[in-house]
Amino acid sequence: MLSAKIDFNFYDYHPEPDDLTKEVLEGLSKSPKSLSPKFFYDEKGSHLFDEICKTEEYYPTVTETNIIRDNINEIVAYIGNGCMLVEPGSGNSRKVRELLDAVQPHAYMPMDISRAYLHKEADKLSCEFPWLNVHAVCTDFTSNVELPYKPKGPHRVAFFPGSSIGNFHPNEAIEFLSNIANMVGKGGGLLIGVDLKKNNAILNAAYNDRQGYTEAFNKNLLVRINQDINANFDTDLFNHVAYYNEEKGRVEMHLVSQSDHSVIVEENEIQFAEGESIHTENSYKYSINEFQDLAACAGFNAKKVWTDKNELFSLHYFDVI
Ligand code: AVI
Repeated sequence: MLSAKIDFNFYDYHPEPDDLTKEVLEGLSKSPKSLSPKFFYDEKGSHLFDEICKTEEYYPTVTETNIIRDNINEIVAYIGNGCMLVEPGSGNSRKVRELLDAVQPHAYMPMDISRAYLHKEADKLSCEFPWLNVHAVCTDFTSNVELPYKPKGPHRVAFFPGSSIGNFHPNEAIEFLSNIANMVGKGGGLLIGVDLKKNNAILNAAYNDRQGYTEAFNKNLLVRINQDINANFDTDLFNHVAYYNEEKGRVEMHLVSQSDHSVIVEENEIQFAEGESIHTENSYKYSINEFQDLAACAGFNAKKVWTDKNELFSLHYFDVI
């Protein structure tokens, strides 16, 4: 579609690819062992995450979407028409589709580290919304990104849905949000989805769905390592374990070894004791006040928060003053 292509721009910052071998060996030589959750999202892992989002137990996705739909007019009033809407870690840009027609941004700037995926998804979106200027940026969105397109006039609003902020340690979350505050600048805003603290049983169920998608997602990390580097994990020797750690205010995911055994990773022998865990993910949960305090440390001023009637999830709007 020619009209869409005219308004489709792609900027490649050539982000440094992750060194999977180095990071896996570093994580597995720590005590306790850990692996970064960023490695979950190969093609299979991204597909499994989409399946998790459709399960009955994993409430964040559907709840956040409903919060956006139920409050769209108010949300637009806070964001303001004609902004530059920037989405760090845009992935398949699914949730922004709920906003575009109502917000009518001057431009949409998706950012992702995965070049081919970003190109495909941004191009698709550009065809679906032919009136929209799309400026896609291939970059490590967790770093301090200098925007390649900064028209004078439109204010900038960042969109960070899905409670992805929960996968950062709170100190890293402040650092990341400070970069976002810097990116949108004075007069800019942030619309961010944050999962709320709640009854442990709801949280435990959300990360242990009955269809086993979360288990497969967690174990796929080992499958992916076996495929991408020289490693021989036997996934049957690890159990998926996920639970809410109340003291730390986070859901933890682990892969727990079922026996004493060893695994070879690029000619290194890694020993596992029975019951030993590889910590694979944290998903921090916040009360509304806790999150507003955290965002304030990054320079954001709380303007409004929307929740669902069961107070499972929150959607915050902040501005930078
Ligand atoms: C992407 N992120 C916000 C999800 C979460 O809930 O922390 C990843 C996830 N892990 C297990 N289920 C979903």
